[in-house]
Amino acid sequence: MLHDPNRIYIFDTTLRDGEQVPGCQLTTPEKVEIARELELLGVDIIEAGFPVSSPGDFQSVVEISKAVKEPTICALTRANKGDIDAAVESLKYAKRSRIHTGIGSSDTHIKYKFNSTREEILARGVEAVKYAKQFVEDIEFYAEDAGRADIEFLAKMVEAVIAAGATVVNIPDTNGYCLPDQYGSKIRFLKENVKNIDKAIISVHCHNDLGLATANAIAGLQNGARQVECTINGIGERAGNTSMEEVTMILKTHYSLGFHTHINTRKFYDLSHKVSEMMHMPVQPNKAIVGHNAFAHSSGIHQDGFLKNRENYEIINPEDVGFPSASIVLTARSGRHALNFHLERIGHHLTKVELDETYKRFLDLADVKKDINDEDLNSLVRHLAVK
Ligand code: KIV
Ligand code: ZN
Repeated sequence: MLHDPNRIYIFDTTLRDGEQVPGCQLTTPEKVEIARELELLGVDIIEAGFPVSSPGDFQSVVEISKAVKEPTICALTRANKGDIDAAVESLKYAKRSRIHTGIGSSDTHIKYKFNSTREEILARGVEAVKYAKQFVEDIEFYAEDAGRADIEFLAKMVEAVIAAGATVVNIPDTNGYCLPDQYGSKIRFLKENVKNIDKAIISVHCHNDLGLATANAIAGLQNGARQVECTINGIGERAGNTSMEEVTMILKTHYSLGFHTHINTRKFYDLSHKVSEMMHMPVQPNKAIVGHNAFAHSSGIHQDGFLKNRENYEIINPEDVGFPSASIVLTARSGRHALNFHLERIGHHLTKVELDETYKRFLDLADVKKDINDEDLNSLVRHLAVK
């Protein structure tokens, strides 16, 4: 089968990196429910857990493998036989399975986490890939903290693990350290200098410590990566991971980049809510794509422009992400145009003079009351009728 060079593979890690967050733990049935939704959403790979970490995580990978058949089911391991054996066992019911193994690649991790040397770490990585390859064909290798790793060493490591059988090489910016051009250049360097790189897919896995996870992931894709690791609502360790809804909608909105995914973006809004509720992790109101205010226009200037033509202030159709609709929020910053829009919506058709008078009364009310609802509008116009 010919590989489509512009297809971007979506690797969801909501149930692994996302679920690591304190307070976000899910039961196995809850994880299966989310995995089923991820399948309907169209993700290519579901990272279902870290099986050796606990019996519960092991069981979740087993149950997700039984319940979900379209996406590849992936299990995380460290670079050791015990972890890999547990992952192999947990994946035995998966129709398509992948083992995600790896080790630190920055000098900081090599020295302070492993008290080791570059040579020894590289050998351990290669050994882990070779060992896992005996059981599972699809092996993803992560070079942890690649964002801060020496690029020549990283290239050497990537080449060695591909030679050992890795089908995907994950270049994580584990600490969310990189700037987009630095991260993009790292991916380009690997693409141009690792001689067997065409035998593997490069994956981007970016954390959001500096708020750059999505920008870095996009930079990676623009420079040769073809898999992006992400989570619903961007949840994940510390400040989180690349958010799936953001990265997917960027690719869709900027179609001139030429990339495409198999994601049904209309499911984002509902799934975002489900994940938020199940994980007890509220979505910030101004969160891109799925936040409560993502399609709410509140200033008079914006409302006026939006009502003249939505393209003035809308680059995404809310329906494309399953959002109920754009909203014009009535506040003390709203203008006559927005007020009239809402009055007409509930059946009040005012003359210009009536609207001017109602608008004055509206401003007085909006200065003291934050939420102006339909009931308030009805009482504002009732005053006209009694005159
Ligand atoms: O951030 C990271 O480096 C990870 C790896 C385990 C892939 O989550
Ligand atoms: Zn991570």
